[in-house]
Amino acid sequence: MVRLEGATKIFSTPEGQSLRALDGIDIDVGRNEFITLLGPSGCGKTTLLQAISGFVELDSGRVIIDGHEMSDRPPYRRPVNTVFQNYALFPHMSVGENVGYSLEVARVTKAERTERVAAALRMVGLEGMENRRPRQLSGGQQQRVALARALIARPKLLLLDEPLSALDKNLRETMQLELKTLQHDLGISFVFVTHDQQEALTMSDRIAVLSNGRIQQVDTPRAIYDHPANTFVASFIGASNLFEGQADGDVVTTAEGASIRHGSTGTNSRVTALIRPEHFFLDATEGYPALDVVVEQIVFVGSSFELFGRTEQGRRLSAHVPAARRATVGALEQGQKSRWYYDPSAVHLIRAEAA
Ligand SMILES: Nc1ncnc2c1ncn2[C@@H]1O[C@H](COP(=O)(O)OP(=O)(O)OP(=O)(O)O)[C@@H](O)[C@H]1O
Ligand SMILES: [Mg+2]
Repeated sequence: MVRLEGATKIFSTPEGQSLRALDGIDIDVGRNEFITLLGPSGCGKTTLLQAISGFVELDSGRVIIDGHEMSDRPPYRRPVNTVFQNYALFPHMSVGENVGYSLEVARVTKAERTERVAAALRMVGLEGMENRRPRQLSGGQQQRVALARALIARPKLLLLDEPLSALDKNLRETMQLELKTLQHDLGISFVFVTHDQQEALTMSDRIAVLSNGRIQQVDTPRAIYDHPANTFVASFIGASNLFEGQADGDVVTTAEGASIRHGSTGTNSRVTALIRPEHFFLDATEGYPALDVVVEQIVFVGSSFELFGRTEQGRRLSAHVPAARRATVGALEQGQKSRWYYDPSAVHLIRAEAA
């Protein structure tokens, strides 16, 4: 549906620098695919969306949509709808007029318009709000009007720039699942921007992780989480315990002398071993190696306990213990020694050149 080839955008800033907001981006978005751009603030997510929609002109590279080269086409001639980061509703129009605007431009009859506006508002949980003005709505409600306005035209390609950021956690999680279902049922390709890793993992077919205008990895949520390509991806998605060292056989030895066992064989090089916090167990498990850790902090977050501790060598580690296993945490106190067990086959190795 969309292909970017070597997309590069250099901004000159008022401070007199030139900034590579996009630095040679190659990416393909399939038909009916939900792809999420994920990365820290300022990494180029909005710029990438705007390169697709045409609001940003590339310095080099190409944008191809549905088989057609877009370089010479202004935004209004590209087969794309956008939900902007700052929602950008027309303030002088009612909610109903905002949502139905594209249908009016396309000369859809008043009766059909009214019906589709009502359906679109129902979709985003704003039934009956047609006659309000944007300023008579909360921020989260305005954001949902913007979403309804983009969905009503049933585009083949929808670009969404943090469309759920103004919603509270419960509404946000409901909307995530609804949007995902809607995208799938209507067969729309979504390019979705968020800096919320949980949201990216929940909604996406694939996630593209960006940093400094470059793609770090594009893959399914599971592959990104379980097999991050480098330490940036490992640290940006999920919490991580990273051990740099030398792999030899099935052991990684760190500079300070800790040994981490792992399941990959035949790796004899500099690596970073990754152990996710949920892969530590506090109760002794037959055949699992363990690290000696002094517990420094125990935080209860509802569904789990987050433990922070330090190894003998002074390395800070974290472990997540499901609340259902509270018995293993119950007896622990700050400053106490504990053994953190792990399954070597759950240890992921990142090669030094990728790290
Ligand atoms: N018109 C512009 N002129 C100069 N620099 C710009 C311009 N637009 C964006 N930038 C810079 O380009 C970089 C990428 O910006 P972009 O808006 O794409 O980031 P983002 O990933 O969407 O961030 P956020 O998560 O905060 O929305 C930033 O460093 C930003 O300051
Ligand atoms: Mg942005």
